[in-house]
Amino acid sequence: MAFKLTINGKTHVIESEEDTPLLYVLRDELGLNGAKYGCGVGQCGACTVLREGAPLRSCIVPAASLSGHPITTLEGLRAPDGTLHALQKAFLAEQAGQCAYCIPGMILAAEALLRATPQPSEMEIRAALDSHLCRCGSHNRIVRAIQRAAK
Ligand code: FES
Repeated sequence: MAFKLTINGKTHVIESEEDTPLLYVLRDELGLNGAKYGCGVGQCGACTVLREGAPLRSCIVPAASLSGHPITTLEGLRAPDGTLHALQKAFLAEQAGQCAYCIPGMILAAEALLRATPQPSEMEIRAALDSHLCRCGSHNRIVRAIQRAAK
């Protein structure tokens, strides 16, 4: 089936099966590799994108169901001139990524948090990222990065 998707402000005409997850469309059709495949069942957060500003696990949501709902991926956070987003700068400054596989999802979850709560407490940050897995154990540096970005 054919449908339109708005990703990072640009509208694309997509042809895929009715149940193809958004993650596959992003990575395989559009070449947007920021969102990662981790568990594939909505449990790890590696595939997180924003749907109208709210975190969405793109591995379990059919792309066709998102027509008319603007999506932001990690690639959409940078300014048009390539300047990194404050969260991206903070994650680099705090060396928050080790393998960094989880980091795109962490950054987008943090973006949603900071939009809703510009000055979150440490507990609010930890709660917002509670369902995002980091197998390297970088959680404390990730929390520090979000605190840095919130200043
Ligand atoms: Fe989507 Fe793990 S890959 S939540």
